[in-house]
Amino acid sequence: MDVVLLTSHHTLTGQGESPGAIMQALGPGAIQELVYGIPKGSLVVPRYRAIPFGDLLEREIVANGSVLINSYHQHRNLADSSAWIHLLGELTTPAYSIQDVPQLPEGAWFVKGETNSLKNRWRDACYSPTTKDLGAVINSFQNDTFLGNQRVVIKPFIHFRQLKRGSGERIFSLSGQPIWNERRVFILDGQVLSEGFYWTTFEGEASAYSMEKLNPDEFIKTLTGAIARVRHLARFMVIDLAELPGGEWRVIELNDGSMSGLSGNNPVTLWTNFLKVANGQVPNYPTQP
Ligand SMILES: Nc1ncnc2c1ncn2[C@@H]1O[C@H](COP(=O)(O)OP(=O)(O)O)[C@@H](O)[C@H]1O
Ligand SMILES: [Mg+2]
Repeated sequence: MDVVLLTSHHTLTGQGESPGAIMQALGPGAIQELVYGIPKGSLVVPRYRAIPFGDLLEREIVANGSVLINSYHQHRNLADSSAWIHLLGELTTPAYSIQDVPQLPEGAWFVKGETNSLKNRWRDACYSPTTKDLGAVINSFQNDTFLGNQRVVIKPFIHFRQLKRGSGERIFSLSGQPIWNERRVFILDGQVLSEGFYWTTFEGEASAYSMEKLNPDEFIKTLTGAIARVRHLARFMVIDLAELPGGEWRVIELNDGSMSGLSGNNPVTLWTNFLKVANGQVPNYPTQP
């Protein structure tokens, strides 16, 4: 089956993704800008192109004789964290709703919407240092023009393993967010296609040691456990994971692979393995994830 990315060169390069790498992996016709340019019978990946009209896009693709890699229903399964948090259980951080706030114990909290956070507004709309501050942080989140309508999710703030400079100094983003050792894994039909370091913008500053997996077996254990529990939700997904100071890993979030940026994933590895798995073959994994 031919795999076609519904996207544009402009969108791809704007997202830091190289059209050349995709065409090298999938073939010269792999990028189509318009639905009616897609050959019938294709498997379509709407690369950064399904929001906000994913349901209409699905109808149009099907009417044109092709199929989306994730149905709109599968896309929603990944986008709404309430569809998967309970499946992951201890492999991820618990989540509470606004109704739970009066019962929450004292502590620090991480506030986000059902799909996205306002991590770039870390101090006023994402991080709550104490339970008393939660009301103000939730209020700031809800006043956001773009994300404010998303259902609010409140998670205990976890001190994952923070990236450090060679000097030992811990790394924070400009907005004050601590930058953890995190990785992004692309998965199709429950098989790992590629994985890479998540915070590529901090790669130059961080010491190599702080970006390593302290215990690679722990990473594999959490990753394989998570895949087994959520693979039925959709065909193409990313799983982001962060490392705890002791070397265990926890899932940060799931997302639709179609609209997830590469982070440190190699695009040729990703799309070559995508084609293999889509055609029922075993992916080439150059090294263990
Ligand atoms: N419970 C948590 N405690 C501490 N940091 C967190 C927590 N959840 C997420 N983070 C950090 O915040 C970032 C953004 O959170 P995430 O849930 O991935 O939202 P977004 O959808 O905006 O990417 C993560 O990449 C991670 O670094
Ligand atoms: Mg995220």
